[in-house]
Amino acid sequence: MIRSVVRGYGAALPKRVVTNRELEDIVETSDEWIVQRTGIRQRYLAGEGETTASLGEQAARAALDNAGLTPDDIDLVLVATSTPDNTFPATAVNIQNRLGMTHGYAFDLQAVCTGFVYAMATADLHIRGGMAKRVLVIGAETFSRILDWKDRTTCVLFGDGAGALVLEAAEGEGTIADRGVLTAHLRSDGSHKDKLYVDGGPSSTGTVGHLRMEGREVFKHAVGMITDVIDSAFAATGTTADDLDWLVPHQANRRIIDGSAKKLGIPLEKVVVTVDLHGNTSAASIPLALSVAASDGRIKKGDLVMLEAMGGGFTWGALLVRW
Ligand code: ACO
Repeated sequence: MIRSVVRGYGAALPKRVVTNRELEDIVETSDEWIVQRTGIRQRYLAGEGETTASLGEQAARAALDNAGLTPDDIDLVLVATSTPDNTFPATAVNIQNRLGMTHGYAFDLQAVCTGFVYAMATADLHIRGGMAKRVLVIGAETFSRILDWKDRTTCVLFGDGAGALVLEAAEGEGTIADRGVLTAHLRSDGSHKDKLYVDGGPSSTGTVGHLRMEGREVFKHAVGMITDVIDSAFAATGTTADDLDWLVPHQANRRIIDGSAKKLGIPLEKVVVTVDLHGNTSAASIPLALSVAASDGRIKKGDLVMLEAMGGGFTWGALLVRW
């Protein structure tokens, strides 16, 4: 049985760190309000020359180094992003070119904050279907470019960055003890589309638009949707919260993360949290968190790791991987 196994990981952040205090000069807010409501203390914001593709390229190169591979070894570049450099061609093709690749194939996938979970599930299907042997799965975003910097209810929440994994085909026995992606569960419900969206686009306004969010409405649905889809992943594999070594959630808000962990009976010591450092980086937040926890030695080979996210659409999903 073919399994998609994690061979390497990497991350990239813009040069500029922006603290909550610095945001106090831009909108009427306070460090105390932001920390209390979200757990965010700082975020990284892209400067001149830093784009989704440039950050994605850096993360990809770091993941290839970590894997001991070169771009020649990759068949598919898959990028989850809602903030592409251009409407087209895809940011994935841009990154493919930056890596000097003229072989293989590349495409973008858009599921907002759930993008990385969707991309991992898609990469796994391409590997198990035999279309690709090695996939660079990248989550890369520059949400700072679609924020309304006059809207304090949204601009304090987001940050920029990128993370990447190399997934590789491996023959395995196919039990939950074997390494690789074990199960993926994806959901969406477009009836919630007006609760979190961008008020522009090529086909509607001809403009890029700004992010709009009914924060309280998103909050209301988040914990229920996240815990429901994680329960599906547990049920499909016959595992429980006790079997889990790490929960690596999408990093939107500390209260949503803690609330989900509590409802699932997962102790907070097993939850990777980076929202304090990175803010909400949408599709980049899970691979950024994975890179932090794998490089500091928390996530080790053989660990059972649950990835989960919920975001605009609404979209939500969970993926269980034996690291
Ligand atoms: N600084 C100071 N005050 C603020 C700020 C700010 N940055 N933003 C809003 N306020 C004020 C509001 O105006 C309101 O004031 P009022 O009571 O005088 O009207 C008060 O704070 C409370 O506002 P609420 O919106 O009720 O605050 P809430 O406790 O719901 O927290 C938050 C807001 C943090 C956005 C919360 O709703 C939340 O986390 N929602 C989920 C959002 C999220 O996680 N989105 C991302 C998921 S999907 C994705 O990742 C793309």
